[in-house]
Amino acid sequence: MKLAITGKGGVGKTTLTALIAQAYADAGRQVLAVDADPSPCLAGALGFPDELRAKLSPIAEMDALIEERTGAKPGTVGGFFTINPRVDDIPERFSVDHRGVKLLEMGSVELGGSGCICPEAAMLKTLFTHLLFRKDDILLLDMYAGVEHLGRATVDFVDAMLVVVEPTRRSLGTAAQIKKLANDIKLDRLYLVGNKVRNEDEARFLEAETPGMPVLGYLPADMKVQEADRLGIPVYDHVPALKEAAAKIVEKLQRADGKEYPQGAAPRTM
Ligand SMILES: Nc1ncnc2c1ncn2[C@@H]1O[C@H](COP(=O)(O)OP(=O)(O)OP(=O)(O)O)[C@@H](O)[C@H]1O
Ligand SMILES: [Mg+2]
Repeated sequence: MKLAITGKGGVGKTTLTALIAQAYADAGRQVLAVDADPSPCLAGALGFPDELRAKLSPIAEMDALIEERTGAKPGTVGGFFTINPRVDDIPERFSVDHRGVKLLEMGSVELGGSGCICPEAAMLKTLFTHLLFRKDDILLLDMYAGVEHLGRATVDFVDAMLVVVEPTRRSLGTAAQIKKLANDIKLDRLYLVGNKVRNEDEARFLEAETPGMPVLGYLPADMKVQEADRLGIPVYDHVPALKEAAAKIVEKLQRADGKEYPQGAAPRTM
């Protein structure tokens, strides 16, 4: 199961990715979580201790590795370098494991159509494609905000995309843009996940205004989410309501896996 988690900035992509990752790991699945945000924070959300975080560094910033693999120094424009460098050993070599979740940090990824033609972009692009071809049990991609990255390479091979929204028209607008782009490249397994939902009215609002995607679940708004951040504890451990909501989402994903996409259906979980 390969899932990309997308949505407008600040809606809760990283919070949801961390919750789902831990829920799958606790259910005994092998999880590879990929932080594809230019400023990584999934390690923090997963509660990686400092000594493990010190071992992590974004692939995009590994200049020596990029040069070794592509034959050119990062930052070089023009000149010769391989656009198809060896990457197969990277997930094992550079991911760090904590509580059953393997984490890999990508760093800044220029995958848009007009992305730069440089060694670091070649490296990341090849690695991304490799990750999507691998046979990981569960692959989770915490994408960066917005829609620009939704190139063919990003979503061609994901099984489903979870679009996180808050109960606001703005975040639904981004969701609609994501849907359009994803449909252009023929990805039709798109699910909405409502986050920071305070009551039934807000849940109903999302259900009524969804840009044609089934609502996979809702995560309640809870001040303890920010408290968890301040205390440096994963939301999964600190906020039972969110842990439960994530478990339900994982359950639904498992049921949906391999089954027909419920067109138009908007299953409720609240
Ligand atoms: N259910 C919730 N209740 C209350 N606060 C929340 C909830 N979910 C997320 N937050 C808060 O919202 C903020 C953004 O969350 P998060 O970092 O997960 O979003 P993001 O979509 O990954 O952001 P970015 O676009 O910057 O990567 C954080 O401060 C987080 O603590
Ligand atoms: Mg994030």
